[in-house]
Amino acid sequence: MPYAKIIGSGHCLPDRVVSNDELAADLATRNVETSDEWIVTRTGIRQRYLAAPGETTSQFATRAAAQAIEDAGVAAADIDLIIVATSTPDFVFPSTACLVQANLGVTGGAAFDVQAVCAGFVYALGAANAFIRAGQARTALVIGAEVFSSILDWSDRSTCVLFGDGAGAVVLQASDEPGILSAHLNADGRQMKVLHAAGNVSHGKVTGDPFLRMDGQAVFRLAVTHLADSARTAVAQANLSLDDVDWFVPHQANIRIINFLGKRLGIADSRVVVTVDQHANTSAASVPLALDKARKDGRIKAGERVLLQGVGGGFTWGSVLARM
Ligand code: ACO
Repeated sequence: MPYAKIIGSGHCLPDRVVSNDELAADLATRNVETSDEWIVTRTGIRQRYLAAPGETTSQFATRAAAQAIEDAGVAAADIDLIIVATSTPDFVFPSTACLVQANLGVTGGAAFDVQAVCAGFVYALGAANAFIRAGQARTALVIGAEVFSSILDWSDRSTCVLFGDGAGAVVLQASDEPGILSAHLNADGRQMKVLHAAGNVSHGKVTGDPFLRMDGQAVFRLAVTHLADSARTAVAQANLSLDDVDWFVPHQANIRIINFLGKRLGIADSRVVVTVDQHANTSAASVPLALDKARKDGRIKAGERVLLQGVGGGFTWGSVLARM
């Protein structure tokens, strides 16, 4: 049975960078009060990238994917599976993955979206790994992409300061060498109310509440507990220990969640990749954006073991342990 190996990565961020001060000034014009001090202290976020009006998830996904394809040294024609993790697809249908497939000029293989919010990329990677292990695909593009700013209620300061837009992608290919060592995916639908955007388009009208709503403290508790358990399970499944992991790339929601998790697992800060200060929370894009950054700046090297972790609405969470 072949392994699935990450052989390339790429990213795309919108041109517009918005600092906390700029955001606070903009929100003040809508009578929403916040400050750089509040945002940095509670979350570690210093800035976020925001899409311009009209920019779409498929555009960011396509650019990140094209970069990953080039980095991997494969041809678009080699791609026989595209999975896009997103909660902000361009359309109800077709899937964002189908739009990306057409943009890249890929004409064969499967293309579909995965909806697991901020755990989406890890879910998509787990699914692509299973396809490749089963011999149903050979070269997969796995993308996390969002225009998350489009589902924020900009009058709700407890959520709108936390998120940003962008995309990250990897190319995963069948290989005799490991590869993805384990994938642990989980969900608990009973917790749907702690984080949701419970709206829909039905009969030509928006029904329900289409904006993101969150119980921040409940999310904090669930995220730390589940990610700690999931990390231990994923390394145990590969007959390894946490000490055997070179790099931790957790979902970038909040520096306090990341620090709590590190302490609980006994992981030094120097082994944790952090981008939440620069990107804010980009939901499904956060893990591949952080992975690409640490690969490209030379921290993550070939042969090293990396634990990728996602957690999000649903409630969903999971870990993928990969040998690079
Ligand atoms: N600016 C200024 N004040 C604010 C802001 C803001 N942007 N947002 C909330 N406040 C105020 C509140 O109104 C409240 O004021 P009050 O005491 O006068 O009522 C005060 O700050 C404290 O509000 P809390 O909601 O209790 O703040 P908390 O300390 O819990 O921090 C936060 C909120 C940062 C969201 C925290 O709960 C958290 O880190 N949760 C984790 C969830 C998370 O990061 N989610 C991201 C998305 S989910 C995911 O990716 C998995």
